[in-house]
Amino acid sequence: MLSKVITIAQQKGGTGKTTLSVHLALAFIKYHNLKVAIIDTDPQGSLGKWFMIRTEKKVSNDGLTFKTASLWGAQYEAKTLKTDHDIVIIDTPPKIESDARPSIEAADLVLIPMAASHVDFWATGAIVEIAKQANKKILIQINRSNQRSKLIDKTNDFIKSLDLLSTNTIIGNRQIYTSSMGEGKTAVEKQKKGNAVDEIKSLSEQILSEIK
Ligand SMILES: Nc1ncnc2c1ncn2[C@@H]1O[C@H](COP(=O)(O)OP(=O)(O)O)[C@@H](O)[C@H]1O
Ligand SMILES: [Mg+2]
Repeated sequence: MLSKVITIAQQKGGTGKTTLSVHLALAFIKYHNLKVAIIDTDPQGSLGKWFMIRTEKKVSNDGLTFKTASLWGAQYEAKTLKTDHDIVIIDTPPKIESDARPSIEAADLVLIPMAASHVDFWATGAIVEIAKQANKKILIQINRSNQRSKLIDKTNDFIKSLDLLSTNTIIGNRQIYTSSMGEGKTAVEKQKKGNAVDEIKSLSEQILSEIK
């Protein structure tokens, strides 16, 4: 058992926390043969809905555990789930500054998704501060962006200005991420190859090497 916890956090909604949570989870299972638990701490429960559709459609949940918890409860849940899972992923709600600490403290890695956009730059400071204070390993994930966008350079400058690193993979703006989840699945279950598969696979490899 690796017994590592990844917390995916960012106070701005819609940056891809939930999308990344499930795609990474399935990539760890599918490409690395790991046992993974996802903890949904968002009261909106979009992850729960995904899991429900998944279960109704009898999509295989081999290697996958799903739990819900409050942001506070997540720390305890993660500790418990760690004992018999390789990876525990905590998906967090937006606007979590005040309650973020327990789920950040539980983490071996804090993954912060953001788009290559100034609006996302402005939103990112608070969660970075909390993760830094807790002395956590932090990686920024550029999501929903185009490698060739002029804003990528600006985004990289911004990440450097925070004294942080981003992952080596930029996740593109691809419909398959959205449509697959609507069916209770992920892009890596819907497709054998393609850009989304390449992105998620290489991201899962880097993240594993960072936390091992
Ligand atoms: N890389 C992407 N490409 C296309 N759509 C995306 C991508 N990442 C997220 N989305 C879509 O953006 C919306 C918000 O994503 P979500 O993961 O729910 O964000 P969060 O959990 O941070 O609020 C969803 O409709 C999702 O399908
Ligand atoms: Mg979400």
